[in-house]
Amino acid sequence: MAKHIGILTAGGDCPGLNAAIRGVGKSAQYIYNMDLIGFQQGFKGLVENRFIRLDGEALSGILTLGGTILGTSRDKPHKMNVAGNTLDMTDSIVENYQNHHLDALVCLGGGGTQKNAMKLQQRGLNVITLPKTIDNDVAKTDISFGFDTALGIATDAIDRLHSTAHSHHRIIVTEIMGHKAGWLALGAGIAGGADVILIPEIPYDINIIAEAITKRSRDGKQFSIVAVAEGAISTDGFEKIVEAEERKKQAESKEDKKKISQEIKTLEKRYQGNTLEIAHQLEELTRLESRVTILGHIQRGGTPSAADRLLATRLGTACASYIQEEQYGIMVSAKGNLTVPVPLEEVAGHLKLVPREHSWVTSAIHVGTCLGSKDLQSY
Ligand code: F6P
Repeated sequence: MAKHIGILTAGGDCPGLNAAIRGVGKSAQYIYNMDLIGFQQGFKGLVENRFIRLDGEALSGILTLGGTILGTSRDKPHKMNVAGNTLDMTDSIVENYQNHHLDALVCLGGGGTQKNAMKLQQRGLNVITLPKTIDNDVAKTDISFGFDTALGIATDAIDRLHSTAHSHHRIIVTEIMGHKAGWLALGAGIAGGADVILIPEIPYDINIIAEAITKRSRDGKQFSIVAVAEGAISTDGFEKIVEAEERKKQAESKEDKKKISQEIKTLEKRYQGNTLEIAHQLEELTRLESRVTILGHIQRGGTPSAADRLLATRLGTACASYIQEEQYGIMVSAKGNLTVPVPLEEVAGHLKLVPREHSWVTSAIHVGTCLGSKDLQSY
């Protein structure tokens, strides 16, 4: 019996989603004779039963397209905004899955999607996921598609900022996406030769950065490029959050825990995403003129790189094979040259952060990059 498959893209979009849809779809149809429909705008489309047929025609000409032909959203099945109310819509999803006689649901997404997919698997659906995100923070996969393209865009931006920073003898602080994980800022910062790289995993001391920039000036280098991840945090902010998290652990009542969680959110808002403030502080401390460039969604737009097309196609076609073998409750992950199935429980709720001992961190230190921390510098 031919299998019926549903597919959706959820969370923030990224380059490579269409290549992955095509990879799953072509392989499912040509090799395994499966039938494929795509739900629109993520889990919302599955709740509202908005779908399109993904036959040969619909899958043609999309390999190089950015975004997702299905549309996406950050809606969660169990916490969906329905006419202004937050409702658990999991039952509607189960119902639509059954009405379509689906044998499997393929969810393409980042960390949040992996969690939502696992919950649906626990409700009895056959779910299989692919890792996508420009942040590269999905656990248990070497890499997720979208990352390579964004890395190229952010690196190109840093390259371009060099000549203008050099001409004006300025500091240019450039904000790169990544709230929790600094892979993109670190990778683009190293590839683009940024002088300072700040990532969420390594809290920074603004004075250390100012010293590094002043030293560059003294050495005759009249400009500096600072690559800052969105989630970069100062040491004082970090200490405050750690202290609050400790209190939350000790708190006895649910109410107290909730209150402290709120406090942590406020602290994160206050101490993360301070790119403008960083530029201002550096201007004050170094007396050098500074400017800010926020790369924003440029990093997520446009055609995927060759590496992302290849990765998305690899993972997508492997996904169809796992469906054929009826291996469900897994994420199709990239491990070296292999594609391996990883149980969703091992992925959901786990983030892949940059470890301090990672070779990229060591390399950055060895080429003299300031990471904003006294413990991690070569001079
Ligand atoms: O999920 C990837 C990501 O691009 C993050 O790097 C970024 O912080 C976030 O999405 C932005 O989300 P939105 O597009 O919803 O503003």
